[in-house]
Amino acid sequence: MTELDTQTRWNEAFRDAVLAGLSPPRKTLPSCWLYDARGCELFNAITRLEDYYPTRAETTILSRHAPDIARFCGEGAALLEYGAGAGIKTELLIDALDAPRLYVPIDIAGDELLCTTQRIGRRFTSLKISPVLADFTGAFHLPDLPRGPRVAFFPGSTIGNLDRREAIAFLTRMRAHVEGGRAIIGVDLKKDRKTLLNAYDDSEGVTAAFNLNLLERINRELDGGFPLDRFEHEARWNEAESAVEMHLVSLDARKIPAAGRSFAFQAGESIHTESSRKYDLDGFAALAEAAGWRLARCWRDPQFAVLGLDAG
Ligand code: AVI
Repeated sequence: MTELDTQTRWNEAFRDAVLAGLSPPRKTLPSCWLYDARGCELFNAITRLEDYYPTRAETTILSRHAPDIARFCGEGAALLEYGAGAGIKTELLIDALDAPRLYVPIDIAGDELLCTTQRIGRRFTSLKISPVLADFTGAFHLPDLPRGPRVAFFPGSTIGNLDRREAIAFLTRMRAHVEGGRAIIGVDLKKDRKTLLNAYDDSEGVTAAFNLNLLERINRELDGGFPLDRFEHEARWNEAESAVEMHLVSLDARKIPAAGRSFAFQAGESIHTESSRKYDLDGFAALAEAAGWRLARCWRDPQFAVLGLDAG
């Protein structure tokens, strides 16, 4: 498939997601569409915010426990990273690993994937890298992998953006990818509501811009007519789901064109754009077990946990 075919398929998938998500009475859009080039830029800015603690906490845990985590991964590992980030977490892990054989970054965002591949390639010149452009939450083909241990790396608490059914399906596929190997997963822990809501509605307004960029993207790519100054970002705590939700709230009743259709909004009605589930260790261990994994190791601080899973 050419790059153009891939681009056309993404455009169609985005259009389908918008038509399907804005038609029902409870409007919702899958969070993966937040990450166009501008969305990636804004997300990277979020990870540097004082209010957004998860990146800082996870990076500190990874650097503090890097030698132990590397021992858990084993010598000569092939590292598969789901949702290749632009941060320093991958570099911390690769730097600590004992003679890694291959790095496979997997990402839906082509620009981000290219940046990560180039950055890691420049820093670890003898490491073989095989990038995969794919939505890691679905089925995709892996490149040929060398013999030796396989380790899945899924940092950032991105597992929290999947609901229970999606998370089990994802963890099950990831387990099949590593063929009896291991996984390192970042998991954000349950904590007080104020800390959580501040992290998703930061005082500098970057998370608001990240969320609103989804409407800009619809306007840009699907001839949408969202008036950006008449929608507001809102972070809500959903106790039943143990999740922080991001919403885009319409300030007025109006009809909005997008993707060749018209969508009616009531004043105060919202589009639910993301859920970030927060776990406790027992809850996450049960989730992992439902996908055939065993929770083997835990490196944590009061806010965040980096977990070692064993597929064997
Ligand atoms: C990528 N993901 C784990 C982030 C999170 O915390 O759920 C995305 C994010 N949304 C708002 N801020 C950050």
